[in-house]
Amino acid sequence: MEKLSEKDKELIRSSWESLGKNKVPHGVVMFSRLFDLDPALLSLFQYNTSCGSKQDCLSSPEFLEHVTKVMLVFDVAVSHLDDLHTLDDFLLNLGRKHQAVGVNTQSFAVVGESLLYMLQSSLGQAYTAPLRQAWLNMYTIVVAAMSQGWAKNGEDKAD
Ligand code: HEM
Repeated sequence: MEKLSEKDKELIRSSWESLGKNKVPHGVVMFSRLFDLDPALLSLFQYNTSCGSKQDCLSSPEFLEHVTKVMLVFDVAVSHLDDLHTLDDFLLNLGRKHQAVGVNTQSFAVVGESLLYMLQSSLGQAYTAPLRQAWLNMYTIVVAAMSQGWAKNGEDKAD
């Protein structure tokens, strides 16, 4: 597994200190960007209050719960930067669940792009090239584990 440098960890921790205090609004910025980049993802959120349009979805309580869940995964990752591999089982399982609800692994990359967009718009001048790379490195590790679980779920279904 890839490892993060000490500098990466420091940049991630210090930027998350403020962002992590306001998870939902920052998560909404991220998902709003995600739906602009790939509007077809709206249809994967099939709650009682449906996600017919981006605005419907962004104001649906169930959807905001998903936003909170995503941000909590980042929160857990940030608090485990020294031992991210301890999250492998959790992330494999999370990848399986996303395969089951119809999310493609390519969409995880679009989430990554949306995460960087959210960081840039929230951090302003503090969004530097090393900070961008540090977050990308962490997200790549998280998504690698999720993608393994995703692939495993697909194989199990093919059996
Ligand atoms: C293309 C992007 C994504 C889509 C379309 C998507 C969609 C979904 C859907 C439909 C569910 C099930 C319903 C729900 O719990 O709200 C779900 C569950 C969940 N998602 Fe996502 N998701 C995406 C990306 C992510 C990412 C990047 C993370 C975290 C890094 C994440 C974390 C979670 C968590 C923690 C759950 C709850 C799983 C459980 O029930 O144990 N999702 N997602």
